Amino acid sequence: MIKAILKKMYRILKPVELPTFQPEFGGSGITEDCYRWIVENISPGAEVLEFGAGLVSTPKLGEIFSLTSIEHNEQYIGQFNSNYIHAPLSKWDGWYQRDKVEKIKNLNFELAIIDGPPGSGNRFGILLNLDLISKIPIILIDDADRPSEKILLQLLSQNLNSEYTDFGHFAVITNRL
Ligand SMILES: C[S@@+](CC[C@H](N)C(=O)[O-])C[C@H]1O[C@@H](n2cnc3c(N)ncnc32)[C@H](O)[C@@H]1O
Repeated sequence: MIKAILKKMYRILKPVELPTFQPEFGGSGITEDCYRWIVENISPGAEVLEFGAGLVSTPKLGEIFSLTSIEHNEQYIGQFNSNYIHAPLSKWDGWYQRDKVEKIKNLNFELAIIDGPPGSGNRFGILLNLDLISKIPIILIDDADRPSEKILLQLLSQNLNSEYTDFGHFAVITNRL
């Protein structure tokens, strides 16, 4: 009897397809231009690192690359197809707790995307943790049109002794290595 009811319910419910999630570009996420630059310049399947997971970069890049996402907010861990690293923000410098992100040094990333921690002027901590990205050939800074992130871009490029290309909303440092 129960089996018959379940079979009937299954027949009714089966055709109901849930709408698939379609992330929108921009907002707090990366822009379409930025996404296009990444897919045109990084080989599919490459190891990609992002600081700051979200609704745009994480689902979209997670489909194409082997993505690692460093995220401070536990609420957003595991939302999409990425190797999430939960790294709460340090009370000292407002950047990700170093011991939580240490393990990324063992991976060979082709690209690092700096899009976190959230908020203008909150990303300078990367300058105190340069060894984490110093062997990554391409470093993309999102929101490079904001005054603080523009300064961060210039400081990062000086400290890495490398040139950058400014695309407006984002900029790319080609790391001299
Ligand atoms: C600048 S956003 C990162 C955006 C991400 N790189 C993207 O393109 O989607 C920074 C912060 O937004 C927060 N965030 C992540 N997922 C979210 C979600 N589903 N809804 C609201 N905020 C989210 C996270 O705390 C993240 O560190």
